[in-house]
Formats: sequence, structure tokens, C-alpha cells
Amino acid sequence: MQKIKKIIKKKNKSNIICLTAYSKNIAAILDKHCDIILVGDSLGSVLYNFKSTKEVTLEMMINHASSVKLGVKKSTLVVDMPFKTYRNSKEALKNAKKIMNKTKCDAVKLEGGKKIIHIIKTLINNKIPVMGHLGILPQTDKKFIFKGKKVPERYKILQDAIALQNAGVFSIVLECTEKNLSKMITKKIKIPTIGIGASANCDGQVLVTDDLLGLNKSKYKFVKKYSNLNKIIDKAVKGFKAEVQDKKFPTNKHSFLV
Ligand code: KIV
Repeated sequence: MQKIKKIIKKKNKSNIICLTAYSKNIAAILDKHCDIILVGDSLGSVLYNFKSTKEVTLEMMINHASSVKLGVKKSTLVVDMPFKTYRNSKEALKNAKKIMNKTKCDAVKLEGGKKIIHIIKTLINNKIPVMGHLGILPQTDKKFIFKGKKVPERYKILQDAIALQNAGVFSIVLECTEKNLSKMITKKIKIPTIGIGASANCDGQVLVTDDLLGLNKSKYKFVKKYSNLNKIIDKAVKGFKAEVQDKKFPTNKHSFLV
């Protein structure tokens, strides 16, 4: 709970840094720089080539989150509840408990607003911290286009954000909400908003780590590539291949001698 309180306190003070991780080694690097590490169900498309996050299972999330936990010392660890694991309060509580107990994470994230508010309240009443997720909802949306073009949609998302706050979530991911809508929500609510494609008008930012590292071929407007790890790995592997073929590796330095 201390970690959760620390995140809430960052509202209006410092921008919250959040990135996704699916395994230990990456998590250990992120941990030095992030406030929140998210085991996102984006792992379905990033690691498994699934067409949507609908195919991601609870077991997958638990396995990846357990690995990530090994690399996390200080960050708040949040795990996505996958599609069809929170269709009602009973199911949500059973599965959220399973995620929390098996992975020792700090919180779970669920997609949706007023529609799932009773489910979110059940988790929070059972001392399970919850992060909300509004805007594009990859688990249920048919089209992935930015949100808040028209007034009724803007109003609905704002009302959803208020409902989530009142239910007790500790922060809300805003995925691809229009810039001024993000501003309105961020100003209106007392908990931090964390944007992905939602402009700088949020209290923090999240990206899929594979995207920012240039490991993915994704070309989303909201992604900035900070590295081209694909090229770097390619160069290292080529180096290994060349040295093995030329019998330059392994030398005595990497061999056992008596
Ligand atoms: O699954 C995920 O990685 C996410 C982020 C994009 C916020 O939910």
C-alpha cells in the first residue's frame, strides 16, 4: 500500500514514468528508472503474434509477471487482468487474488469505466489495488481509433474517469484520448492519469518497452523509438556467427584448461 500511496502523491508534483515488462532482465533495467512497471496484456501481440489481447490467458500473465517480479526492487508492479477473467465480481476476485498471490505484484489493471465499476469496487473492498484503463480498450474495442472526437464520447470518458476515481482506483491509463480531453480528465480527477497516445496533458506516460527500444516493427503515431535494439542485437549475433565460423571463438580465455 505504501507504493500505491507514493504514486498517488505524485499527482501535480512529478511526471510518472511507466513502461511495460514481460521478463526479469528487462524489468531489472526498467526498475532503476520507472515508478510503475506494467505487465501488460500487450504481450499477446508483442511476444505471441496474437491478433488481439483477447487470446491472452491468466496463466500467461502470471508466468510473465512472476519473471518480471524477480527484476523489480522498487517500482510499483501492476499486472493486467486478461480478457474474460473479470466478467463478474466473483470471477474477478478469484482471478485477481490468484494474480496477487502468485506474482506478489502491487496492483491489477482492468479495462473499462462505469460498466465494470461494481467489479472494481469488489476488488478494492478486498484490499486489491486497482489501476483503471480508459480510452481505447484493446480487449473489447473493435476499432483502434483515438477517443474523444465527439462530445458524447468525451462526456462518457470523463464520467467514467470520475466513476473510477470514486470507486477507489489509484490511477488511470488513458489510451489514445484526444489532447484536450486528456487535459480535462487530468484536471478534474485527484488521482494520476497515465497516458499512452494521450498527449503530455497527463500526469505520466507509459509505452510498450519493445516499441521504444525499436525491437518491434510497430508504427503507431504515439510511439517514439529511443533506440534501434534490433540493429544492435543483429550486429552482436553477426559478430558471434563470424567468429565461430572463423574459429576465433572460443579462445582459451573462454575454455577450461588443466
Ligand atoms: O497492455 C499494455 O501494455 C497496456 C499499455 C499499452 C498501457 O495496457
